[in-house]
Order: sequence, then structure tokens, then C-alpha cells
Amino acid sequence: MSLSVVHTRSAYGVDAPKVDVEVHLGGGLPSLSIVGLPNTAVREARDRVRGALTTSGFEFPRRRITVNLAPADLPKNGGRFDLAIALGILVASKQLDSQALKGGVFSAELALSGHLRPVSGTLPVALQCARENEWMILSNANAQEASLAAGVIYGANHLLDVCAHLRGIHPLTPTQPNAPAPLPSAPDLADVHGQHLPRRALEIAAAGGHSLLLYGPPGSGKSLLAARLPSILPSLTTNQAMESAAIQSLAHGAFDPMHWRRRGFRNPHHSSSSKALTGGGVPPKPGEISLAHHGVLFLDELPEFARQALDALREPLETGEIRLSRAAWQLCFPAQFQLIAAMNPCPCGYHGDRQHTCRCTPNQIQHYQSRISGPLLDRIDMQINVPRLTPVELEGMEPGESSAQVAERVEAVRQRQLQRDGQPAANLSSAQLQQRCRLDSGGQAMMREAGERLGLSARSWQRSLRVARTIADLAHYREINQQHIAEALGYRDRLRD
Ligand SMILES: Nc1ncnc2c1ncn2[C@@H]1O[C@H](COP(=O)(O)OP(=O)(O)OP(=O)(O)O)[C@@H](O)[C@H]1O
Ligand SMILES: [Mg+2]
Ligand SMILES: [Zn+2]
Repeated sequence: MSLSVVHTRSAYGVDAPKVDVEVHLGGGLPSLSIVGLPNTAVREARDRVRGALTTSGFEFPRRRITVNLAPADLPKNGGRFDLAIALGILVASKQLDSQALKGGVFSAELALSGHLRPVSGTLPVALQCARENEWMILSNANAQEASLAAGVIYGANHLLDVCAHLRGIHPLTPTQPNAPAPLPSAPDLADVHGQHLPRRALEIAAAGGHSLLLYGPPGSGKSLLAARLPSILPSLTTNQAMESAAIQSLAHGAFDPMHWRRRGFRNPHHSSSSKALTGGGVPPKPGEISLAHHGVLFLDELPEFARQALDALREPLETGEIRLSRAAWQLCFPAQFQLIAAMNPCPCGYHGDRQHTCRCTPNQIQHYQSRISGPLLDRIDMQINVPRLTPVELEGMEPGESSAQVAERVEAVRQRQLQRDGQPAANLSSAQLQQRCRLDSGGQAMMREAGERLGLSARSWQRSLRVARTIADLAHYREINQQHIAEALGYRDRLRD
């Protein structure tokens, strides 16, 4: 009987389920059919595989060839199964020994010339292979990316190289990951003159992972400040970096194996659709919120985003993940991101400015601000006004601290929070808040007083308490005192006051 089974893996979101490529050579008119929920790109493997095998000088069996991709209920896409199908045909037609394929996973698209082409989602597959002690053969172009998973990776250029390796004639050398390149330098906070309060808010947000809204008139430096956030963010743990890299690996062309340890900073344009933000398509690709997993999602000109796009952020902001169901695909992408937003306070931009008078009516202002729904605004921990400085004022002001100085404090606080609570202050649950955010007597008095005076909702109180936790950590205090709470309350709901 001419049957072969080649084991491989698919990329299903950040999972990499097993797929068996079964090849059967039967009697009847020569043909090749592929079954097992393939999409168009997989079905076209027929022609690519036939071309690759014949141009490489192998005999293409003149039989009725059936390729079954099991399990059948798992949707399959792309050219990732080409190599496994070609090897399956070689084994079934006795041109290759099945023993040589044991314990291997094969993931590459084939060119008609027999060359191996890269596929998306390589890192999640490589991570799973490393966990299961499977070795991998893939295109050289994917080898560096896969080698980050610390499994056994063989990169090859051509189908003939793969076969020479499997036959033991010309073994391939396992790929070692390159030393990571130094990160390109991000814009530095030293460029920002004055603006002590916004700089302070940015530091607190970076240290505790809090979401932050910067608002103020045009040219006041909101975009300038936000663009400098990456330069002070705490470093990623290896696990976090790997999780975020696995998502980049699924997005077409987003993966950069040299800089995979960098915290994501995504800055989508305000014309972005909700699909671009949350992800979608068939098969579903991760959106901006997932590409910002463990990193920052910066939404500049917040009110200019479509209402629908902004509202789509509410659920992931709460749960830290996004579920996408498209056709047969049901995926869940992680999306734990820190939201940083910037906006003008009104349509003309000058509401609250010292020199320019705002020409907007109260109605216009209200309408403009209401483009950001209450529930979204309610999920933003800190709001800070960025006032406009005149050129003369800017001249007279010293440049501020450099990013390196600020980053040192931020890193120390984040490490303290991770050691104490296992997560940044922004993610503390209500139960943890009660346990971990102890107030001294002054803090308790302030809390009672503020609760009555400001009529805080439970949620906005908790939000302020998390911010106060970070402020106390920055000041090296174990308990939260009156001052810390007062500062944290100062960052609440300012825009609409
Ligand atoms: N505090 C500052 N220190 C140094 N340069 C500044 C400062 N504030 C503003 N600038 C200069 O003004 C330019 C405009 O700032 P930026 O683009 O950040 O404004 P913005 O608040 O985002 O305005 P808009 O509301 O129009 O988007 C900056 O590129 C920078 O050159
Ligand atoms: Mg701007
Ligand atoms: Zn105005």
C-alpha cells in the first residue's frame, strides 16, 4: 500500500495545533486532490508541489494522489503545508525513507523552482515544537525567527537541500539565534522643555502601566511627549517579549527577529477601522491592540477615531484579550496594552488656553468631547492638561531630565511592583487593592473626605488608588499617604471638569 503520514503543525492564532499530512497513492487517472478544510492557497499547493518536485528532478507519481490534512475540522490556510505535502508524496512513492522524518515538523511554502519560501506565524509554531521536543525544517528566511524559541531549527534554501539532509547525505547545521542588535535610539525626553506636570504624569504612567490621556491646545507638545514614552518604559521579561513576538510573527511583515525584545509602541492613524484596531479577516490577523500586547497603544487625536472603533476597545481593555470569530476560525488574541491618548479639548483646540480665545459654543465642546464615550473615558486612569508655552517661555526653560534618568526610576518601581504583586499597579484586582494598597491614617481620612466631596464611583476610586500606589512606590513609601492620594485624585476626569 502506498500511504504516508507526515506530522506538522498549523498556525492557529497563537496556538500551533498538530496537523497530519496523509498522502495516499491509488489506482485511477493521474490526479492530485487535497481534502481537510483547505482554503484556496492550500488547494493551490497541488500545482506548487507538482512543479517543485518535477523541477527538482524527482519522479512525480502518475497515480491518483489524495492528500488529507487532518484533523479535518481545523481550518487550514496558506502555503505552509507545501513542504510536508511534497515530502509525503516522496515517502509514499518510496523516494524517501519515512524514518528520516520522525520527530520533525515541516513548515514552508514551495516555489515552482523547488525553493523554500517563508510563511507567517513561524514563532508560535516553533515555540510549540520546542515544548514538544520536535525539530523543524523551514525556509532560511524563517530560521532566525524560529530559533528564538530555543528548539532545534534547520533552515534550508531548496527542497533538494531538505532531502539531502533527510537522507543523511548533506546534513544542515542547526540555526543559532543571532545576538540581538542594540535597539535604535528612541526620541529622548531631554527634548521637552518645561512641562513638569505632564512629564510627571508620563513617568507615573510608565512605571505603573496606567492609561493616560493628554489634552491641550495645538502645538503644546502632546504628541512630542507621547512619542517619548517608549524611551522610559520598563524592560520586558523574556516571557512577555516572547508572547508579544509570537503575535508580531502572525502579522504580515511585522516581525523583526533582531529587535524582538522591544516593547511594542503602536501608533495607528485616526482613520483606522475597528478591524484594524482589534484584528480580523479570514484567517483573523491580530490588530493594533494585540500588536501592542505588553506594550503601548497610542491614539493621537482621539476624537477623530470612529466611535465604533473606539467602542471596540472597551472589552479588551477590561479582559486583556480579544475574541475573533470569522468563518471556521475562532481565535483569541492576547491584548494587554497600555492606552495612551492625546486630544484637543474642543473643535478649535483652544478651550482653556491662556492666550487664544476659544470660539466654540458649550454645545460644540460637549459634542466634541462626547465622541469619546463615557465608558471608554472611565477606563482611563489619568488625565492631564498640557498647556501651551509661548516661544519666549520655551526659550527661558531648561531642557528637562533625559530619558535615561527617568527610565531608571521607572524600572526600579516596576521591579518593586512585580516582586510584590506579580504585576504592575494598573492591573491590580479589587481584591489585591484592598490587600496591597494600605492607606496610612491621613490617607484614610483623605479617602473618606474625597469620596463624599467628589462623589467618586467605586471604579474611579479604585483607579485613583492604583495610581496612588505607583506614586507611593516612586516615593519609596510602603503605605499610601494623603499626598499620594491627593496627587492621584488630581489626575481624574479633568477633561470634563
Ligand atoms: N515643551 C516643549 N519643549 C520643546 N519643544 C516643544 C515643546 N512644546 C512644543 N514644542 C514644539 O512644538 C512642536 C509641536 O508639538 P506637538 O506636535 O507635540 O503638539 P501637539 O500638542 O501634539 O499639537 P496638536 O494638538 O496640534 O497635535 C513640537 O514638535 C516641538 O518642536
Ligand atoms: Mg499632536
Ligand atoms: Zn474651542
